[in-house]
Amino acid sequence: MDLVPSLSSILASVTSTMPTTTQAVSATNGALLQFAVTLSYAISAVFFVFGLKMLSSPKTARNGNRVAMLGMLIAIVVTLLRGGLEWPIIVAGLLVGGLVGGFAARRVAMTGMPELVALFNGSGGLASAMVASAEFWSAEDVLRVDTAVTVNLSVLIGMVTFTGSLIAFGKLRGMSIRGVRLSNPLVYPGQHVVNLVLLLAAAGLIYALGANPTANWAVILMLLLAMLLGVLLTIPIGGADMPVVVALLNSYSGLAACATGFVLENPGLIISGSLVGASGLILTQIMCKAMNRSMINVLAGGFGQEAAGPGSTASAEGLTVRQMDPEEAVMVLEAAQNVVVIPGYGMAVAQAQHAVAEMAELLGKKDVSVKYGIHPVAGRMPGHMNVLLAEANVPYEQLHDLDLNSEMEQTDVVIVVGANDVVNPDARDNPGSQIYGMPIFNVDKAKTVMVLKRSLNPGYAGIENPLFFLQNTVMLFGDAKATITGIVSELKSS
Ligand code: TAP
Repeated sequence: MDLVPSLSSILASVTSTMPTTTQAVSATNGALLQFAVTLSYAISAVFFVFGLKMLSSPKTARNGNRVAMLGMLIAIVVTLLRGGLEWPIIVAGLLVGGLVGGFAARRVAMTGMPELVALFNGSGGLASAMVASAEFWSAEDVLRVDTAVTVNLSVLIGMVTFTGSLIAFGKLRGMSIRGVRLSNPLVYPGQHVVNLVLLLAAAGLIYALGANPTANWAVILMLLLAMLLGVLLTIPIGGADMPVVVALLNSYSGLAACATGFVLENPGLIISGSLVGASGLILTQIMCKAMNRSMINVLAGGFGQEAAGPGSTASAEGLTVRQMDPEEAVMVLEAAQNVVVIPGYGMAVAQAQHAVAEMAELLGKKDVSVKYGIHPVAGRMPGHMNVLLAEANVPYEQLHDLDLNSEMEQTDVVIVVGANDVVNPDARDNPGSQIYGMPIFNVDKAKTVMVLKRSLNPGYAGIENPLFFLQNTVMLFGDAKATITGIVSELKSS
């Protein structure tokens, strides 16, 4: 009968497609392994989110870093354990990268931090672009359209981040190329049109690779075009605006990593990349807001040229300033009940934070209440003043933000230590001022304002400060550390 052979052949064909016991066990193991990997990435993502949240307060920031580092360690270990790796290359990479990164981080001075961060961002962008393009060239099958599009997106963002960060590094370092100072905004006619054409060309290359996922030329052209774009987008921006640009490039490096995560189908990379991308963008916006500048205004460039030299206060001629020396200052301070210290970029230059902390401690012993007012963009990088004051062990409870303005009229003495723009009343009162609208500390409302700086020269924005000529302002000219040290020794001997 035909029926029997046909039944047995059906059975045979069914059983041949059914997994054997060993196959079933290994499939279950594979699914379990995949579940464990995904779960580990989810756990590391939770660590990243909590770490980021903890970074928002100086009290918890150090532990926040540790928590996020632990999350990254979990993600790295899980990725390494997934297998299929060339171990000698991985170990060599870990050793070289770890040694260079560790050495650089240990050696860098606090004022050199933005440069180091720029280099780290650049390396992140380069790594993402390299991994995505390596995935393209090593693929055995033709890539899916979405993967091909993401490869070129990752190459674009990664290489823009790489060369843009190198230019940012050069600008922050004050480097010159053939006599041209990089820190000055380098502008030329038709700059925006050139950038727009390059951006459109980049969009065209993304489309081309999507349409033909084997088009090598589209990836090679994208590598070159993105490198050029990174340079051209960054050169018009002034050196002093670089911290904002570095925050933005940080965000780009995250987006590049996220795109590469999609290419590799690695959830850990997608999550960490998006977190870096989003938080970098938020930080950029906070900085722009605190400087009362739009992001477009920063990116269009031309602002933040080197401050003019000593002659720049010529229009202040005819106005008089009142001066004091440390001995007289101590007499005023000892008569005060409450004092507010506003640190600025000059405190970082003078490295006066330890002397400032000692002065505050001595005043405290004389029953003078001391608080610190930290402006969001005081100094030259986010959290600049917080880091310096933490280094000098200033208690976190004494640190306040712009809310301190509500107590300014009741404040006996404000000591402005190397700050300028963040206490310029023109930002509040003069609609014609370049920094009009930027929130400031209303120190001019205090009973007495002591301004510690070396001259009447302007700060970062390059503009005059009417605060110096007010009736309730006294200038203590000189290096901030020397002046505060003078005040400290007077306080000790009084
Ligand atoms: P600035 O306005 O830059 O003023 C700093 C002042 O410090 C200068 O006027 C300078 O005057 C004085 N100074 C320099 N070295 C000194 C020393 N050794 N001893 C005493 N004084 C010294 O500082 P700020 O008030 O902190 O404002 C920061 C500015 O940077 C803002 O305009 C902000 O928008 C901008 N910015 C900030 C950031 C971030 S994220 N913080 C990023 C980019 C731009 P003399 O030369 O007379 O001493």
